[in-house]
Amino acid sequence: MNVENLKLEFVKIYGEGEIAGYFSPGRVNLIGEHTDYNGGYVFPCALSFGTYCLVRKTNNPMFRFASLNVKNREELSLDELTTPLKKGNWVNYPLGTIAQFVKQGYELSSGADLLFYGNVPNGAGLSSSASLEISTAVAINDVFNFQLSQVELVKMGQKAEHEFAGVNCGIMDQFASGMGDIDHAIFLNCDTLDYELVPIKLDGVKIVIGNTNSPHSLSSGKYNERVAECHAAVEELKPYKFINQLADISYDEFRALENKIENETVRRRAHHVVSEIERTVKAVDALKSGNLEYFGELMNASHDSLRDDYEVTGNELDTMVEEARKIDGVIGSRMTGGGFGGSTVSLVKDDAVDSFIENVGKNYETRTGIKPGFYVAEIGKGGHKVF
Ligand code: GLA
Repeated sequence: MNVENLKLEFVKIYGEGEIAGYFSPGRVNLIGEHTDYNGGYVFPCALSFGTYCLVRKTNNPMFRFASLNVKNREELSLDELTTPLKKGNWVNYPLGTIAQFVKQGYELSSGADLLFYGNVPNGAGLSSSASLEISTAVAINDVFNFQLSQVELVKMGQKAEHEFAGVNCGIMDQFASGMGDIDHAIFLNCDTLDYELVPIKLDGVKIVIGNTNSPHSLSSGKYNERVAECHAAVEELKPYKFINQLADISYDEFRALENKIENETVRRRAHHVVSEIERTVKAVDALKSGNLEYFGELMNASHDSLRDDYEVTGNELDTMVEEARKIDGVIGSRMTGGGFGGSTVSLVKDDAVDSFIENVGKNYETRTGIKPGFYVAEIGKGGHKVF
C-alpha cells in the first residue's frame, strides 16, 4: 500500500480535505533482552516497516479511529479519551497515547479523524504496538502543534502500553520506534536514556529476521511475571548491596551475592538480566571494533540465557535458532523481543542467506508444523512526518 493509496482510503472513509501523514517503524533488537525494565542496556534498530497514521483535525469534538488492517472502528468524544476500551481492542494503543496528552494538560482544541495502516507482521515480536503508539504520538504532537520532544513522545507511548494494554514494558520498543535512524542501531541506557547511534556497517553480512508465526502475547501475564521476579530479586539483594534495580549490580558482585536470593527461579531470572547487560556492552564494543564473530557468540549466549535462565523462548523460537545455527555462514542467532513466540534475529553471511531461508524454513516447518516467514532487515528511520 503506497502513500497515494493510503490518502485515497482516507478520503473514502472521512471525505475530501487536507490530510497529514506520519510513519513510525517496528524494531528488531540485536541484543540486550529483558534488560530495559531493569535499567540496563539494549541495542535495537528501527525497521523499514511500521505503521502509518493519517490524520485530519475536524470541527467537531470527536476522535474517529479507523484501520486498514482491522475492521473495528471507534468514535469517541473528547471526554472519553482517557478511558481504556475493552481489552483486546486495537484502538487502545492510539487512544492510550492520546490519553497521555490529555493527562499532561495538553488541550485538544478539536477532534480528529485518524486512519492507520501497518505493515509490521502482527504478533511477530517486532513492536507493531510501539509503532502504532509512536505514529499516533508524532501525529498528534504535530497537528496540534504541542512541540513536545521526540523522547517525551516515546515516554507517552510506553505509558499507553502500561495503562491501556496492561503490559509493564520497558522503554526499548517505543524508543527504537521514535529515535531510530537509517543504518544505525541504538545503544541505549534505559536508566538514564542516554544513547548512542552506532553505525551498522556489516560488510558481507545481513540481519535476517525469522518469524516463527507462533504469536507472542505479552499481555498473557508472563511478561509482567518476569518484571515482578526481577523486582523480587532486587528486594532480596538490597540488604547486602543497596540497589534500586538489577542494572545497579555488576556481574561479579551478583555472583558473590546470588546465594542470598532464596528462590531458585528468581535467582536465575536475575542471573539472566545481569549477564545480559554485560553481554550487551561487550557486543557493542565487538561491533565497533569489527569483531562480528564475537558479536555472534554473544548473540548465541543471549538466546541460551533467555532459554535456560529466563525461560521466555519456547519450542518454536528454540527450534528456529537451533536450525539457524546448523547453517554454514550463520554468525549468531537468537530470539528477539519479548519472547514466548515471535521472531528470531540472525547474522548471516551474504552468500548463505538463500540457503538459510530455504533450509531453516524447511526444517522448522517439518519440526513444528508451522510455516515461518523471513525478512532481510532494512534499518529505517524513527517516527516522522511523511507528508
Ligand atoms: C518487549 C517489551 C520491551 C522489552 C522486550 C524484552 O518487547 O515491550 O520493553 O522488555 O520485550 O527485551
